[in-house]
Amino acid sequence: MSKNTEKPSKKKARVQSKTKSTKTQGIKSRERVRNAGEVFTQPREVKAMCDLCEPTISEIDKKVFEPGCGNGNFLTEILERKLKKTGKDEYKVLIALSNIYGVDIARDNLEEARDRMKNIVNAHFKGKKNSASFLMAMDAILKANICYGNLLTGRKKIYLINWIPNNNGGFELEKWNFEDIEKLRESTKQTDMENLAKTSEELLRPPIKPPEKPKPKPKPKSAKQATLF
Ligand SMILES: C[S@@+](CC[C@H](N)C(=O)[O-])C[C@H]1O[C@@H](n2cnc3c(N)ncnc32)[C@H](O)[C@@H]1O
Repeated sequence: MSKNTEKPSKKKARVQSKTKSTKTQGIKSRERVRNAGEVFTQPREVKAMCDLCEPTISEIDKKVFEPGCGNGNFLTEILERKLKKTGKDEYKVLIALSNIYGVDIARDNLEEARDRMKNIVNAHFKGKKNSASFLMAMDAILKANICYGNLLTGRKKIYLINWIPNNNGGFELEKWNFEDIEKLRESTKQTDMENLAKTSEELLRPPIKPPEKPKPKPKPKSAKQATLF
């Protein structure tokens, strides 16, 4: 047997299986891990984390935003959950899609995420022919919602659309800046009925100004300075 056709030794086989498992563990390359911390979450963890957000996450009109969405491991799971509530109604599917947002700095990840989401929608309709307007709307929503952005240095440049169903089969579109959404979140509180009064009062209370720092006293002039001036 020549060297090239030699069967891998047990030690070699162990090394090979280790390399394979690293691939399936969700990294594209070591460089990408180093440069952007790109490690993809595995389906089991994705499902467990989404379960923690139920029943809200499955509602078609509840918004979900994933910063650093990668190639869409969470986005696809969330879409599948929402699609369980839409039936084959194209408008409801668009509402579900329009409430899923992701931002990432890697354009290839964004393309993958959009493609995966589109495939899920196509599979959902199982070969049923969709209307041309539905297909165009789906592309428009995915293009806008799964978008490029640098979440560390480019937050001001990230814009998202709030798609408000107008119940005529269309949407009212609002343009939002990412930083404004974050500010709005700061002034948003969750509460139950018992605490409604307390929470609303807290929210309306003018912000407490931090006490003004006492102005530093002017340093007494040294004896030398005193004589000079
Ligand atoms: C740990 S991965 C997680 C991917 C995905 N969320 C998942 O769980 O499978 C981090 C992601 O954040 C993205 N990322 C890193 N730095 C970023 C930045 N400054 N702005 C936006 N996205 C960034 C990477 O491209 C990568 O897709």
